[in-house]
Amino acid sequence: MITVTLIPGDGIGPEITHSLQTVFSAAKAPIKWDVQEAGLDGLEKTGSLVPDSVFESIEHNRIALKGPLATPIGKGHRSLNVMLRQRYDLYACVRPVKSIPGITTRYTQVDLVIFRENTEDLYAGKEVQISADEAHSLKVITRQASTRIAQAAYDYAVANHRQQVTIVTKANIMKLSDGLFLEACREVSKHYPLIKTSEILVDNLCMQLVVDPSRFDILLTENLYGDILSDLAAGLVGGLGFVPGANLGTETAIFEAVHGTAPDIAGQDKANPTAMLLSGVLMLRHLQLNDVADRIENAILSVLSDPNVITVDRGGSVGTQALTQLICRALGA
Ligand code: NAI
Repeated sequence: MITVTLIPGDGIGPEITHSLQTVFSAAKAPIKWDVQEAGLDGLEKTGSLVPDSVFESIEHNRIALKGPLATPIGKGHRSLNVMLRQRYDLYACVRPVKSIPGITTRYTQVDLVIFRENTEDLYAGKEVQISADEAHSLKVITRQASTRIAQAAYDYAVANHRQQVTIVTKANIMKLSDGLFLEACREVSKHYPLIKTSEILVDNLCMQLVVDPSRFDILLTENLYGDILSDLAAGLVGGLGFVPGANLGTETAIFEAVHGTAPDIAGQDKANPTAMLLSGVLMLRHLQLNDVADRIENAILSVLSDPNVITVDRGGSVGTQALTQLICRALGA
């Protein structure tokens, strides 16, 4: 048994992490959960947004799976997600975005992997209030962080037989910061002559993705562009309910869906747990538990390929619990 820290999180987090625990148990995955409350729900129960026990658990287990955590808009505490990524130096945010058979969209052949630098850029938290009418945010780009996310992307490309890495910037405008990111990525690309490298400006990429996402393979980018592109790309394959993610560092890894707490549907059995379940599959593969990862993934895909199974976010009536039960049945439980 491998012990994993499980943070249910806020909003729909408890519903989708419960779904994940149910499916993992049906698949007899050799995972023991160390459940830790954090976020606003944790605040009510423990008096702290992130109690020390959460850090102790992550530092002990080194692998965590988390539901989304709420961040107040325009005021209040800093993002706990950003804090965790910076604290554990989870520099590579990896998000596979793939068309799912049975989830019909305008696109049939989306197979992207977004590599998002996860520790700096405008998310470094360096903001200054100059006056009541002026505020500045500092965009921090370093060669070191740019180089290691580029290396992660190219290593992944080689290991997973991918063809192309596209470096995404706005280096025509931010010549120094995005220029440095681009230069660092170009430097890394020279060591991978078998992988095709292309470059694109982020605004053009948004248009190209909506027109024909099948042209792209791995997208290598900074923190903010990666965040926005992740949601855009999720829309290409059916929505946020379908896209998983991993935050990888050298010592610690935290797996989570791309989406947030979805407060508009929380507590109503409407959340699509697929993104969370696929994040769990990524975690199992990271732990080299490939057999059980394949079984769970195949069960999810076979259930979703049934035209009668339409989740609530797709306009149907199959809620969180019903989908969970169907997947458990597909696993033979
Ligand atoms: P969101 O991703 O929570 O929701 C956007 C839209 O997608 C909503 O209409 C929601 O109902 C829908 N949606 C999201 N996930 C879904 C799922 N699994 N099934 C069905 N529908 C789903 O983004 P929003 O509203 O901008 O953010 C809400 C909160 O989440 C904020 O406090 C934000 O800071 C936080 N957040 C946390 C993240 C994390 O913990 N990694 C990531 C993104 C946002």
